[in-house]
Amino acid sequence: MSDIASRNFKSRISGLTSNLPILIELIVLQFLLSVIVYSALRDSFTLTAFFILVIIESILFLLFLIYKRDKELGKVITLIKRITNKEISDQSEIKLPQSLKNLETEIKLMHKKNREDIDYLKKLERMRSEFLANVSHELRTPIFAIQGYLETLLNGALNDHEVNTSFLEKANAHTQNLNNLLSDLIDISMIETGEMRLSFRYFEINELLDSLTSEYEQIAQSKNLKLIFSPCQKNIKLYGDKNKLRQAVGNLIQNAIKYTENGFVEVSVVEEKNFGRISVRDTGIGLSEEDLTRIFERFYRVDKARSRDIGGTGLGLAIVKHIIEAHASQVKVTSQLGAGSEFSFHLKK
Ligand SMILES: Nc1ncnc2c1ncn2[C@@H]1O[C@H](COP(=O)(O)OP(=O)(O)O)[C@@H](O)[C@H]1O
Ligand SMILES: [Mg+2]
Repeated sequence: MSDIASRNFKSRISGLTSNLPILIELIVLQFLLSVIVYSALRDSFTLTAFFILVIIESILFLLFLIYKRDKELGKVITLIKRITNKEISDQSEIKLPQSLKNLETEIKLMHKKNREDIDYLKKLERMRSEFLANVSHELRTPIFAIQGYLETLLNGALNDHEVNTSFLEKANAHTQNLNNLLSDLIDISMIETGEMRLSFRYFEINELLDSLTSEYEQIAQSKNLKLIFSPCQKNIKLYGDKNKLRQAVGNLIQNAIKYTENGFVEVSVVEEKNFGRISVRDTGIGLSEEDLTRIFERFYRVDKARSRDIGGTGLGLAIVKHIIEAHASQVKVTSQLGAGSEFSFHLKK
């Protein structure tokens, strides 16, 4: 029996069994009534009298049924009113007579679903408020800093050759932070409103990562870090949106350089059966177990001040996660505090 057919069958059987008490009551009542009327009319019992008896009985049963249904409907209406007025806090308070057990189950399901929907909406609302609070805070920080430097310059520091250039440079660095934040925010909002359109194609992964690593060579060198690219042995083609992947891997490389003081950063591709595995590995500060579970959250940074000082927005990994998930893949991280981290993901061949 198919699933639906077996469910229908079960609900019919349970419908019959839940109506059984009424049916029994009706049969007993009809029997009693027949006995009473028959004994009263025993002597003059005719066919006409028999029909009249059946009609009267039927009318009485009908009235009885209407009365029963009315009472049951009353109970259903009271229950629905209590639910609407939020007087019911627990599922166990939803109770209907035995004959309406099916309806009781359906109302319980509806009540549960409504609660889940409301909880979900409340969670979304909370996340939205938190996000707004975070955005305002993140915007305020560079704006206050820029304002501070400009005011100090206007109040006389402009003529102080010891500090004027460095103040202007600092203000300029904060405008860069502001710019980074705005472009990350635009990306996040595009992703969340579903406006981020991906265009999937096969492309040569070695070529993409080679050009990407050479973009970051200068920055790595300025920190005395080795930036190594280990290409795939074979020149394989992987499937994805090349530009979005450039942005994601670029973010991972930037992080690896930012959070590494000594050693190296290695970008590599390894061919697997149906996939290519791309990884960015560093010998940097690493991450604790607890931080590992949170780094993909928006605005989460292990060290807020440090991240901001080096131009971080706390949105980079949230964007990376979205991009990789849009490729039906997942970013994996392994890390050891003080020893380094590895961020990796798979792409289809
Ligand atoms: N390679 C890494 N090594 C150590 N910590 C990292 C690394 N990449 C990311 N993190 C941590 O994860 C946080 C979130 O990263 P991200 O979203 O890119 O924001 P940020 O703008 O701060 O770089 C960073 O602030 C940092 O604390
Ligand atoms: Mg980052």
